[in-house]
Amino acid sequence: MTKPLRLAIAGLGTVGAGILKIVQQHGDLLAARAGRPVEIVAISARSRSKDRGVDLSGYAWEDDAVALARRDDVDVLIEVIGGEDGPAKATVETALKNGKHVVTANKALLAIHGQDIAMLAEENGVALRFEAAVAGGIPIVKALTEGLAANKIKRVMGVMNGTCNYILTVMEHTGADYADVLRDAQELGYAEADPTVDVGGFDAAHKLSLLAATAFGTQVDFGGVKIEGIERISLTDIKDAADMGYRIKLLGVARMNDDGLEQRMQPCLVPATSALGTLEGVSNMVIVEGDHVGQIVLQGPGAGEGPTASAVMGDVMDIARGLNIPTFGRPAKTLTKTQRSTTGADAEYYLRFSLADETGVMAAVSTTLGEHGVSINRMRQYDHEDDMAPVIIVTHKVSRTKLDNALGVIAAMDVSLEKPIAIRIETV
Ligand code: HSE
Repeated sequence: MTKPLRLAIAGLGTVGAGILKIVQQHGDLLAARAGRPVEIVAISARSRSKDRGVDLSGYAWEDDAVALARRDDVDVLIEVIGGEDGPAKATVETALKNGKHVVTANKALLAIHGQDIAMLAEENGVALRFEAAVAGGIPIVKALTEGLAANKIKRVMGVMNGTCNYILTVMEHTGADYADVLRDAQELGYAEADPTVDVGGFDAAHKLSLLAATAFGTQVDFGGVKIEGIERISLTDIKDAADMGYRIKLLGVARMNDDGLEQRMQPCLVPATSALGTLEGVSNMVIVEGDHVGQIVLQGPGAGEGPTASAVMGDVMDIARGLNIPTFGRPAKTLTKTQRSTTGADAEYYLRFSLADETGVMAAVSTTLGEHGVSINRMRQYDHEDDMAPVIIVTHKVSRTKLDNALGVIAAMDVSLEKPIAIRIETV
C-alpha cells in the first residue's frame, strides 16, 4: 500500500474537533481520493481532559504544540490554535523548519507574518496552505490559485465575516438589539474569542489582505487595509437602507488602481436584489472578477466546525496527492512589495442626516453638498421625531474627500443635531 500521509493537529477547539470527525468518518473516502491513507498520528491542545465529543484514544498526545511540530512521524502539521504570534507562530515555524508541510486556518498569523512564513516554507521545500483562513468552507483560495490562475484579476470582494453578516441580517429581520444578536453568534460558535475582532472588521480584513496578495501578486499588506467595523450601524440605517432598496454588508473590496492596491473592509450598501444583497445569516460570499472569465460568485458557510474543517482537509488532500502550490499562487520571493493606492475609486453614498425641523434647513444642506461637488441622486425625508427631521440622501458618484469636506461643514451647522452618517454604495 502507498505510504500514508501522517497528520498532526495543533489545537483542538471547534475546528480541530471538526477535523478529527472528518478523518474518523471519511477515512476510506480520503484514502480513495488521495490514492493513499490519510491518518492522524498525534495531537496537542491546552486541555487533555476536556470532552470534545470525539475519541482521542488512538493518537499520541503532546502537551506542547512545538514538540508536536518536531515529531519524526508527522508529515503535515495542521495549525488551528489561532493568534498572530505566540504558540501558533512558533509551532508553524518549527514545523516548516523541520520539513513538514503546514495547513493553517490562522488568518491573523498570515495577515501579519504571511510573507516571512511563505518564504520559510519555500526555503524548506514544503507546502504552506491556508484555505480555511478565508471565508470558512468556500474554496476561494483554490479558485484563485488554480481554477482562475490564467486570469488577470480585476477586483476581489465579498462578505467574509459570518458573525457580522449574522448580526446585520438578524437585526434587520427581527428588530433585535445588536448586543443580543452578537451573544447568539457567540453561542453558535461563529464569533472569535474576542468578538471585537469580528465586529471591528479586523477578522474580515485579515482575510481580505490574504486574498489581495493571492489575486494581485503582492506581499500581504494588512496594514494597508482601510478598516471600519459594524459597531456604528444602527437599526435605523438598516431599515432606511432597506427602504431605499439596499442592504448593509460588511464588505471587503480589493482592486489594483493605477496608483496601487486599494483594500477596504467597511460597511457598504449593496442593492437588495444583487447576489450580495440576498446573503443571509452566517453565510459568506466572495466575488472575483477576472479579465477572461468575467464574474465568479462563491457562496457558502463562512464559519463553524464543519465548514472550516472541510477547508483544512481540502488543503490536506492536495498535499496527499503531491501538490505543492505556492502559498499565494506564485513563489513568495516574487511577490512584489505593495504600493498602496491613495485615491480609491469614486462611489455613490447613502447619507443620513438628523436635522432640526426649521425653515430653510434642507436648502442649506443641499446647497452645501452642491458647493462641494456632491450631486444628489435621490432624497427622502421621514416623519419628524419630536423636533428632528431624519433625511436620507443617495448621492451620485463622488470622491470620499469631496464628500467628507461637505459633511464636515454640515456637521458644524447648528441645525445638524447628530453627526451625519455616510455609507458607501458598492457597485456589484
Ligand atoms: N469569526 C469568524 C466569522 C470565523 O464570524 O466569520 C471565521 O473566521
